Amino acid sequence: MHRTPKPRARQSEIPQNELLGERSEALDVGAVGAGRHNSFAIGVDRGRGRARVLTIERASIGRGEQVAVDLPLKKALLTGITGQDGAYLAEFLLAKGYEVHGIKRRSSSFNTDRIDHLYEDPHTQGRRLVLHYGDLTDAANLIRVIQTVRPDEIYNLGAQSHVAVSFETAEYTANADALGALRLLEAIRIIGLQSRTRFYQASTSEMFGKVQEAPQSETTPFYPRSPYGVAKLYAHWITVNYREAYGLFACSGILFNHESPIRGETFVSRKITRGLARIHAGLEQCLYLGNLDALRDWGHARDYVRAQWLMLQQPEPQDFVIATGEQHSVREFVERAGEHLGMNIVWSGSGIDEIGIDTRSQKVVVRVDPRYFRPTEVDTLLGDASKAHRVLGWKPELTFAQLVAEMVNEDMDHAERDAIIRRHGYRVPTRHE
Ligand code: NAP
Ligand code: GDD
Repeated sequence: MHRTPKPRARQSEIPQNELLGERSEALDVGAVGAGRHNSFAIGVDRGRGRARVLTIERASIGRGEQVAVDLPLKKALLTGITGQDGAYLAEFLLAKGYEVHGIKRRSSSFNTDRIDHLYEDPHTQGRRLVLHYGDLTDAANLIRVIQTVRPDEIYNLGAQSHVAVSFETAEYTANADALGALRLLEAIRIIGLQSRTRFYQASTSEMFGKVQEAPQSETTPFYPRSPYGVAKLYAHWITVNYREAYGLFACSGILFNHESPIRGETFVSRKITRGLARIHAGLEQCLYLGNLDALRDWGHARDYVRAQWLMLQQPEPQDFVIATGEQHSVREFVERAGEHLGMNIVWSGSGIDEIGIDTRSQKVVVRVDPRYFRPTEVDTLLGDASKAHRVLGWKPELTFAQLVAEMVNEDMDHAERDAIIRRHGYRVPTRHE
């Protein structure tokens, strides 16, 4: 269908590992015929019960033979492909030979920065990254995209993912984050893809909220503390329910905070690395933060998307906590990022009067602004990912120190570029929230 198949041998002659290789599929040839331009064969994939029409060289294959064909092994559909995790997961899946489809929202400006390096011109033959317009609040659109793509795997990464913003946009957050998951699950049922399509739901440690025990595992009771956390809890349980009610292969990954150089600029980790880098480059004077005492279990997004994929490769669908098992405060994140820039940040005062001073420059580089406090806060999160270690064989490969260093380095590059532009008399916009 996509490429000229390479009939190689009967099944018995093909080594098993070649048959099951990542880009190879074994098909029984059920019929052979001639079209106007090509010969074709209808190959039946016995494992999945699917038929594929294959374009073949004339007379190169006969009925009843078995062929190993090189095709993209699987099709994945990602909601939220333009976000942090979407970008890392798309790259990961493309490297594994997947055909990757992503849903992106219509925006008045380009919104594909994070995946531009993966982008393929729509005119390219056999491209493996395809974007579709859509929105998690639009059921008809989701049904149409899923019907067109017929994915083997759906990763529901799309969400209004900012906790503080969810207090301002509670209804929208519920619509996109809670009902969005339901719409996807229903679409799978409506189209009749229950036995084909595996579903991943991006659940979150925010569901533990006011934590009932430490560390938090798959069995820890939930106590969400924001409209975002509550919406995600609905999505989590509806995923579990559809698995139990309809036998869907549906998994929830309960992921703790994970960051990277392409993290959204208003999440605290990126706000710190970007803010301090810009202060260091002379572009800004001070970084304003909220609760410096909050404790988080911060990992690297690159490690976490690998776990998302692993969950959908298991024989049975299950839910997993993904975390590093290590905790740091916002205050410590600031200190580490500062150190990496050659700053020595020490703290003085308390409450909203607390300041962070860089002893090397003698400047106040951090102040507290109560506007960043939340009506209800999640004070502490610490994950126990031992089930993922045991069942998935997953462990984080990148340390907290590596994460901070990578983020600071990239933000320093951006800041230096902006500083050069400003030195040459051009305006550099200052973006804050
Ligand atoms: P992110 O960077 O904020 O990306 C969110 C993605 O969702 C973006 O592509 C965004 O599109 C899209 N989106 C937002 N509203 C949408 C809607 N109504 N319809 C369709 N798409 C929509 O988030 P992330 O950090 O990659 O996180 C991925 C997922 O994991 C999210 O569901 C998040 O809640 C969850 N999660 C994240 C973490 C973490 O620490 N990163 C931890 C646990 C769970 P635009 O680019 O157009 O805005
Ligand atoms: N955003 C932000 N901005 N947070 C701040 C600030 C600030 O200026 N100052 C302190 N914080 C504190 C927040 O109050 C929170 O306790 C902590 O830093 C982390 O905030 P965020 O980085 O915004 O992340 P989050 O923990 O609220 O939510 C993220 O992680 C969740 C998983 O636990 C998001 O990625 C969610 O989508 C994700 O589900």
